[in-house]
Amino acid sequence: MCAAEPEQHTTGDTMYERIILATDGSKNAQKATESAIGLVKELKCASVTIIHVMQAVTPEEEIAKAVFDVCGRIDENVRPAIQTTIDRVEQEGISYRLEISLGDPASEIVAHAKKEGAGLIVIGSRGLNGVKGALLGSVGQKVMQLAHCPVMIVT
Ligand SMILES: Nc1ncnc2c1ncn2[C@@H]1O[C@H](COP(=O)(O)OP(=O)(O)OP(=O)(O)O)[C@@H](O)[C@H]1O
Ligand SMILES: [Mg+2]
Repeated sequence: MCAAEPEQHTTGDTMYERIILATDGSKNAQKATESAIGLVKELKCASVTIIHVMQAVTPEEEIAKAVFDVCGRIDENVRPAIQTTIDRVEQEGISYRLEISLGDPASEIVAHAKKEGAGLIVIGSRGLNGVKGALLGSVGQKVMQLAHCPVMIVT
């Protein structure tokens, strides 16, 4: 909840109190980061959860996920890909949480948004596989289909 400061525009119980910013470390995700930063500053009360989803490539990884908290351990491996996002959010002095998940990116992003009661998901229109001509990547499409809250797609 926001502290009441009469001289400031506060958003009260704004639906945008928490924003989910999904990043794969791509150029478009970086644009999404800038948009999310703009929103957070404009709405003042919002904070950000930066989420990066690692895709399991082997059954062993799925098993590991079930048995151990691998997310804490693989953090250092994924950090380079999302470091720019983290740096920008930190530069702006915005409070954030970092969430590293394992699984299907869209499902994880949406499930996490739901868990946190997020009011908005911000993603890029394309990601690391961006092919010229296609408007929207598959993760973006699936997030739009599954999301319980508004989705902002940044081009
Ligand atoms: N693994 C991921 N973790 C977190 N966010 C992701 C992940 N993958 C994609 N995103 C988010 O979704 C946006 C769109 O990426 P998407 O993967 O849909 O496009 P693409 O890589 O160009 O195409 P595709 O993966 O369908 O071949 C990215 O800019 C990013 O915000
Ligand atoms: Mg992709």
